[in-house]
Amino acid sequence: MGVMGVIKERRSVRAFKTDKVPDDILLELVEAGTWAPSASNIQAWYFIVVNDQHVLEQTAAFSPGLLGNPPALIVACSDKQLAFENGGEIGERELCLMDLCMASQNIMLLATEKGLGTCPIKSFNGPALSKILRLPDHISPELVISIGYPKNNPPTPLRKPVNKVSYFNKWGDGIEA
Ligand SMILES: Cc1cc2nc3c(=O)[nH]c(=O)nc-3n(C[C@H](O)[C@H](O)[C@H](O)COP(=O)(O)O)c2cc1C
Repeated sequence: MGVMGVIKERRSVRAFKTDKVPDDILLELVEAGTWAPSASNIQAWYFIVVNDQHVLEQTAAFSPGLLGNPPALIVACSDKQLAFENGGEIGERELCLMDLCMASQNIMLLATEKGLGTCPIKSFNGPALSKILRLPDHISPELVISIGYPKNNPPTPLRKPVNKVSYFNKWGDGIEA
């Protein structure tokens, strides 16, 4: 499958089989994350792989948006201290988050290619998750990515057509609706 095929194939999966995801595959997904672009290549990120049943349950208890009992999670975290030291206020406030978005998409696309389902999850209690994962104060959990073998094929939510969301050169110009 080409890149566009994988991009379109990826779905947010919210029902998982109980099968474990091998550690080496989880680490390969993290590696895909680390190859994302990063502003000034600061890479102010950490990826906490969660596959211990107790930690999974604790995380789920504080994450209303986490559905379907995934056997693994990757918690994408920013290192606010490193982001500030190397990128200033904008680095801490914005750039490290943009980096993590790109890293997360890499993770989800590689997972898709490997037949795994994922879901990006923002609906979680940050302070509780930090405590559960024993994160130091300067490390902030930004996105939880659930990972596992999908139980079903979720329907594809519609996308706005390209010609409704793009212009050439100037707002309002160029593409026939
Ligand atoms: C920043 C962000 C946060 C999201 N948070 C949640 C969440 O907490 N729980 C959830 O089930 N889905 C979450 N989603 C998944 C979206 O609902 C999903 O991407 C959207 O409905 C489109 O479906 P698709 O991913 O299958 O294309 C989130 C997606 C993004 C980008």
